[in-house]
Amino acid sequence: MDEFRRVFAEAEAAAGKAAETPDAPPEDPTACFLSTADAQGRPSARVVLLKGLDGDGFVFYTNYESRKGRQLAENRWAALTFYWPRIGWQVRAEGKVEKVSAEESDAYFASRPRGSRIGAWASLQSQPLDSREQLLERVAEVEERFAGQPVPRPERWGGYLLVPERVEHWRDRPYRLHDRWVYTRAADGWEIERQYP
Ligand SMILES: Cc1cc2nc3c(=O)[nH]c(=O)nc-3n(C[C@H](O)[C@H](O)[C@H](O)COP(=O)(O)O)c2cc1C
Repeated sequence: MDEFRRVFAEAEAAAGKAAETPDAPPEDPTACFLSTADAQGRPSARVVLLKGLDGDGFVFYTNYESRKGRQLAENRWAALTFYWPRIGWQVRAEGKVEKVSAEESDAYFASRPRGSRIGAWASLQSQPLDSREQLLERVAEVEERFAGQPVPRPERWGGYLLVPERVEHWRDRPYRLHDRWVYTRAADGWEIERQYP
């Protein structure tokens, strides 16, 4: 996690520098691919945003009843893949997920803009939706329901912590002779292995 933090800070600094250039596409270093698989091992992947890092792992937020949420309920193994092109770096973290505490999800939910909190109530993520109008109607209903009051966290929405068992760093080097090093959780800490690119 210390090494991840250090490289992440570099990626953030590089994204900040690029943002000063008007034509540069925006880059959000918190964006990463979350891969999950169902009970049959069929994989799926999508982008989520990293919202927290602690000694134990990586935190992201989503709808627990979404497709990914259903897969994680069946199969707790998941992977997060970061790619930061500006510093030529990839990180792959693999491990089991657990839900973060209700208090932690509440605290993060409360920090979000009101519109996003309303949206979390209105959206039944990954369920069929007839039209955009239907979504906007649900937004209006939720706004009316919570008019003049704080918007609490819907129970179906919250955080997951991915506790890594394996973390790989990949650093771009000339002639595809990239550096790769892999941390694997061991009984008393982490083993580290260099691998061919
Ligand atoms: C840049 C970006 C950031 C995203 N961040 C999140 C996120 O933090 N949480 C989330 O649930 N979905 C996020 N999404 C949407 C997901 O990629 C995905 O469409 C959604 O979660 C439904 O996935 P599912 O049906 O596999 O559950 C993001 C998409 C993009 C492109």
